[in-house]
Amino acid sequence: MTNSHRRLAFDLTVWAVSLCAGIVLIAHEAMADGHRYRADNARWKAECGSCHLAYPPQLLPAPAWRSIMAGLDKHFGTDASLDPAAAAEIGTFLQNNAGSSRRVGAQSLRITETAWFRHEHDEVPGAAWQRPSIKSAANCAACHRTAEEGDFRERNIRIPR
Ligand code: HEC
Ligand code: HEC
Repeated sequence: MTNSHRRLAFDLTVWAVSLCAGIVLIAHEAMADGHRYRADNARWKAECGSCHLAYPPQLLPAPAWRSIMAGLDKHFGTDASLDPAAAAEIGTFLQNNAGSSRRVGAQSLRITETAWFRHEHDEVPGAAWQRPSIKSAANCAACHRTAEEGDFRERNIRIPR
């Protein structure tokens, strides 16, 4: 190799390495972003956040939200009925921001029973879910300290004792 060839090979290597690093960085950002949910609606936050966390609409597919909104009078053992105007507005908000069935396909109406949820939490020890400080897997904010802001990123997780 002549000097100029060597120089060219070096430049190409530097360029290729930077390109790869760039792609990895972008992919990582996109993934990290996948666990911050930004959709917001004041009525949804107030009504669906009064008994538990207002669960991000992205975590269930549209058909599941439709069923939940159709059965609010018998909502997981409680009555969570809404007046028709609020129900219509919240229902539209949930469906417009719902997750895709492929990603968060639901066999039940519980986020906590989806294959997606089980997979994300397969490293949580089984007994942790029953701790008095947690009570239920549906109590996201017990461990996800920034869940109220739609932020489920790993860096903000602490499993309470
Ligand atoms: C009157 C109280 C109350 C209100 C208001 C309420 N919920 Fe619930 N919700 C519950 C209870 C209780 C559970 C069961 C929690 C558990 O198993 O720990 C539940 C569970 C859920 C679950 C399943 C959580 C899981 O296990 O994955 C979803 C989804 C849900 N609610 C959505 C909504 C939506 C949407 C609204 C607003 C339209 C709403 N809730 C309003 C009481 C309420
Ligand atoms: C007992 C504590 C606990 C509860 C309760 C809990 N989680 Fe998690 N969650 C974790 C832990 C720990 C991880 C990280 C697992 C890992 O990456 O190894 C996690 C991961 C996640 C992730 C992926 C985060 C990322 O960026 O990798 C999402 C999204 C998530 N949980 C949503 C929820 C939702 C929604 C609820 C409530 C319906 C919930 N979690 C309830 C402990 C909990």
